Amino acid sequence: MRYIRPLSMEDAVGQLTGSSGTAAILAGGSDLLVRMKGGFIEPDLILDIKAIDGLSEIRETAEGFSIGAAVSCALMGESAALKGEWPGVVEAAKLIGSKQVQGRCTIVGNLCNASPAADSVPALVAAGARALIAGPAGRRTVAVEAVPTGPGKTSLAKGEIIEAILLNRRAPRSGDAYLRFIPRTEMDIAVVSAGVNLTLDGQGVVKSARVALGAVAPTVLLVEEATEALIGRKLDEAALERLANVCSGACRPIDDKRGTVEFRRKVAGVLARRGRHDRLCTCRRQMMAGVAVSTTINGDNVEYLCQPDETLLDVLRDRLGLTGAKEGCGTGDCGACSIILDDRLVCSCLVLGAEAEGRRVETIEGMAHGDMLHPLQQKFLEHAALQCGVCTPGFLIAAKDLLAKNPDPTEEEIRFGLAGNLCRCTGYDKIVRAVQDAASVMKGA
Ligand code: FES
Ligand code: FES
Repeated sequence: MRYIRPLSMEDAVGQLTGSSGTAAILAGGSDLLVRMKGGFIEPDLILDIKAIDGLSEIRETAEGFSIGAAVSCALMGESAALKGEWPGVVEAAKLIGSKQVQGRCTIVGNLCNASPAADSVPALVAAGARALIAGPAGRRTVAVEAVPTGPGKTSLAKGEIIEAILLNRRAPRSGDAYLRFIPRTEMDIAVVSAGVNLTLDGQGVVKSARVALGAVAPTVLLVEEATEALIGRKLDEAALERLANVCSGACRPIDDKRGTVEFRRKVAGVLARRGRHDRLCTCRRQMMAGVAVSTTINGDNVEYLCQPDETLLDVLRDRLGLTGAKEGCGTGDCGACSIILDDRLVCSCLVLGAEAEGRRVETIEGMAHGDMLHPLQQKFLEHAALQCGVCTPGFLIAAKDLLAKNPDPTEEEIRFGLAGNLCRCTGYDKIVRAVQDAASVMKGA
């Protein structure tokens, strides 16, 4: 297995085109690492595209927005301009996984994973987003709905890489929304989802409408009949009823443990109804002999050798002896492995050790200063906010990140901020009280 970090798109395309065997693009890695760990893919080449100029940026252009392929969903949520024009797209991106996963995952990865239940895709389809694709024959642009062709399959040809997602400027009197049904309140896969994008004229009559449904067919459905049901009409009860009916009728869902065909059909109509309104050609090549990494961990310069497919969690625990971060699930679901990477909360189980090159890593071992515990650690002790403690380092790191960004959170904000951390002993109330108490102490200080 080779790990390569190209510095230009031309080089990346050349590497991909000239590769033999299985090649995988690495941006966020939140799907790729899970598939590698599960044995579903064993790439001969991992192409880490994050060092390519511009790929980690959201650019405003005369036409709208260009969201680079390596832009994390968390970064999308921090862009006031993007949120202001395309709130539905940002809302969808911010529903993917936990805060930790959002610190890594990308909408391009979500699109190329080609899951019918991908959260960002119905919102992107509804928004009329396009994918800018670089390949051996040059660049081309396609509608995002043309990228997935079936579960786990895309229309991308050998050597092609999605460089960015393009969104137009929003027309006046228009809005987009994304809604999904899941059995839990957070951290779950959509049973049914809907993206809606409408533009009204001055009299409140629908001028343009795009409705897309997720998890009800092998790929996300753009419901043309929904457009016909809405255009030229006011959004009255009759129009909404027609919208719900055509959306339910357009579904081609499957029965599975998360929802029956009948249930999915019904919910598709309901969601559509509710969602109405609103980085030249130099490469760093490292072979199986190991990838040499220089990084900063808890303020110390650290160098190590790791394998291309070794996670940062394994490097921390097995090579560096930093065993505070735990492996609970290994798939980004439990938060026990939480660390902070360049001021961003992430799951270290879904970051490659090689990716830490030149970055700043904060782990639970850096939280206390000598014998002086961090206020959060002190308050976790005082509130007995732990039982077995497997989850505790992850909770502490997630809480530290939360209070750094929001020093005075409400209980709801704490619960939401810690939704990506699971405690199998279910000591959540004490944990929330400890975070509240620590926030008071830190404010006072
Ligand atoms: Fe990384 Fe569970 S989220 S071990
Ligand atoms: Fe045991 Fe949280 S205290 S998993």
